[in-house]
Amino acid sequence: MTTDNDPTQLAISKAADEARKVAEKLAAVNSAVAPTTDIVSAVSSLERGLREQVVSLSQIGDIAKDISRGISAPLEDTLKRIQSLTTPIAGVGDEISKQLSVFSANTALVQSVMQTTRDLQNINAALMGKNSGFQALLKELGKKREFVGLDAIKVANISRQTIEANYSANRESLEAAALEAKLASETLDMTLPVDGVATGTVHPISQVMDELAEIFADMGFAVATGPEIEDDWHNFTALNIPETHPARAMHDTFYLAGEHERPMVLRTHTSPVQIRTMTSTPPPIRIIAPGRVYRSDSDATHTPMFHQIEGLVIDKGITLGHLKWTLETFLKAYFERDDIVLRLRPSYFPFTEPSAEVDVGFTWINGKRVIGGSGDAEGGGWMEVLGSGMVHRRVIEACGLDPDEWQGFAFGTGVDRLAMLKYGMDDLRAFFDGDLRWLKHYGFSALDVPTLSGGVGA
Ligand code: DAH
Repeated sequence: MTTDNDPTQLAISKAADEARKVAEKLAAVNSAVAPTTDIVSAVSSLERGLREQVVSLSQIGDIAKDISRGISAPLEDTLKRIQSLTTPIAGVGDEISKQLSVFSANTALVQSVMQTTRDLQNINAALMGKNSGFQALLKELGKKREFVGLDAIKVANISRQTIEANYSANRESLEAAALEAKLASETLDMTLPVDGVATGTVHPISQVMDELAEIFADMGFAVATGPEIEDDWHNFTALNIPETHPARAMHDTFYLAGEHERPMVLRTHTSPVQIRTMTSTPPPIRIIAPGRVYRSDSDATHTPMFHQIEGLVIDKGITLGHLKWTLETFLKAYFERDDIVLRLRPSYFPFTEPSAEVDVGFTWINGKRVIGGSGDAEGGGWMEVLGSGMVHRRVIEACGLDPDEWQGFAFGTGVDRLAMLKYGMDDLRAFFDGDLRWLKHYGFSALDVPTLSGGVGA
């Protein structure tokens, strides 16, 4: 506990009083000549005040400003004296040199007690700045060189250099000390829990597309893309879809208004990417093409925009066997089950011959459809998941390839449907509502990059 007669407290208040008194005195003398002893005592009181922590950082600058006025004051008289010189006067050079040495000693004194770079800069500007008495003195000395003598000018320059060197040295040490203090106070506690950052999720469709790309990449398939605004040659004609095919009707397809060389449509399926790949890449070809497609359709199970993934293999000696193995391998990896059973049903697509629709077997477990096993088993069923077939020779021909040399298979399926089947989502429209609660629930972490080794859906 401290008491009124605690010697430390007494010393502190005494030092504070002294500092205050000297500063007041210096402020009062203003332009009057302040004796050097006053400056020295003012600075040492300031120093003491600092040491005893009774002078605050904000006070130092103010007190120092008063002191610096006292330091500069004698220079004004010297300046006037030089200005009035019209002939050399014996001893005037020595007088000036003396005055300058005192000035530089006093300046060094205040510089040394400054505690912040800003105060140091302020004091420096006041004592040495463009409008300071010191600068005016230097100028005047230059003009009256022959009256004051070269020695005085030399002393003036040495003073300037000394003050500048002191300034730089003090500034560096203040900056180093400030940095030191900052480093000491700004500690980083690595053990504190991290602030929660709001993160988004990866949409199930993006996730499934990534999973599919991963699975097919493992089988040597590259990812190909095509435009969503397609011409009717790529979307229909080259795919052997006749003029009369219902898919070409206005009420099924979004046509673009305006004059175009070929009628333009929002692609109705990803199959035109087959054409774009075959016309731009020499076979052998192994690609998948995931992407958005558009149809004029909207109800609980159809949205005007949805997602498909296309597959295409063009090579020599490709058979239906290759197609079946590829689809089986893909579906096993995708559903992460070895007991996937496929059923290929004969079907019709204009761009494949023969064509097959592919069903997977499932069983009902607790009222839920679970993919796996034969659909013919007790309590089971078949679910259509894909359209596929051997690429029609007319399609191969349309792309400028010889169908007797190159054959292949193709398949196409809905990504949204695959996502719903795997992750148990039952309303297609929710995919496109942008409801944050749904996305939080069904979305995937951005760090959950699908890998085959990790189980693609993990
Ligand atoms: N393009 C078809 C559709 O949108 C799907 C399809 C069926 C794609 C058979 C194919 C295929 O590549 O061989 O319904």
